[in-house]
Amino acid sequence: MALLFFLIIESSSRLRLVGGRHRCEGRVEVERDGQWGTVCDDGWDMKDVEVVCRELGCGAATGTPSGTLYKPLAEKDQKVLIQGVSCSGMESELIHCEQEEDVFDCSHSEDAGAKCEIPETVRLVGGPDHCKGRVEVKHQQQWGTVCKAGWNLSAAKVVCRQLGCGRAILTQRSCNKDTQGQGPIWLSEVSCSGQEGNLQDCSSGLWGKNNCTHDEDTWVECEDPFDLRLVGGGSRCSGRLEVLHKGEWGSVCDDGWGENEEQVVCKQLGCGESIFLSAKARRNFGLGAGRIWLDDVHCSGKEQSLEHCRHRFWGYHNCNHKEDVAMTCLEL
Ligand SMILES: *[C@@H]1O[C@H](CO)[C@@H](O)[C@H](O)[C@H]1NC(C)=O
Ligand SMILES: *[C@@H]1O[C@H](CO)[C@@H](O)[C@H](O)[C@H]1NC(C)=O
Repeated sequence: MALLFFLIIESSSRLRLVGGRHRCEGRVEVERDGQWGTVCDDGWDMKDVEVVCRELGCGAATGTPSGTLYKPLAEKDQKVLIQGVSCSGMESELIHCEQEEDVFDCSHSEDAGAKCEIPETVRLVGGPDHCKGRVEVKHQQQWGTVCKAGWNLSAAKVVCRQLGCGRAILTQRSCNKDTQGQGPIWLSEVSCSGQEGNLQDCSSGLWGKNNCTHDEDTWVECEDPFDLRLVGGGSRCSGRLEVLHKGEWGSVCDDGWGENEEQVVCKQLGCGESIFLSAKARRNFGLGAGRIWLDDVHCSGKEQSLEHCRHRFWGYHNCNHKEDVAMTCLEL
């Protein structure tokens, strides 16, 4: 969820997918006069999604989900910019499809969504999950490894972001006998500024032209994506707050916790406004047992994710589980 910041990938033609697990899935948004607005789903079908996928350089179209599945939902002050979109499926950009720009009877409950495959060009393999492992890139339909020569933190950041993972934490280790690859060693001397959207946008030696051995295969570890949930309340919009960090769910201490912080959580979960609960009602959600990940959290209320609020260093606190944050949002 917190990865939202990274998932909102803007293309030059002013179309993006928001709130999905990766840049090729989400609520469809288009830009007009510097403002991002949504698309009404009247008549929205697979042909329209095919054009969206093509325009964004994503893979095949796989679905026409409702845009309301993607959280946070469109803001109230965002407009529904187009309706009645009807593509033949061959257009290169959504803007070339037949459409009505006079939106008269659509609300955000009819926002269109799109689901495309991600064109997989980089992966981390041989680790415990998709955010840790040996770096591999695809070239001529074949996966191959990346030599450690020239590799640094900036390159690792690009990979972690491209995969929808969290921050790069381990970046320059080479693989050992058990974790090294086989087959081609595609890249060497990869040099990224850290701002690139894809590893393939970084400069490098020629594909397959290097003197590296598999002992120099690059291994990268990224943090797992941040996530949060409410547990013990019988609904996803009510309960004790838990956050996912380094693959482990833990609780949040209520020191300094207040309305702004609750609003950010409710918005991130796509659950509407937070509502006041008595101390007694909060206790009904039970006590956490594992780590206490966050303490002294301070949000302005405008953050898109709790991850962007200020807080003490992960795992540092002076709390016990009796102080776990528990809360309820008004379910939409
Ligand atoms: C990694 O290397 C590139 C180019 O060699 C350089 O621009 C970048 O600043 C380096 N990044 C770090 C974190 O050292
Ligand atoms: C590989 O090694 C050979 C022999 O030392 C050298 O001539 C060649 O330039 C090297 N190639 C690369 C890509 O570094």
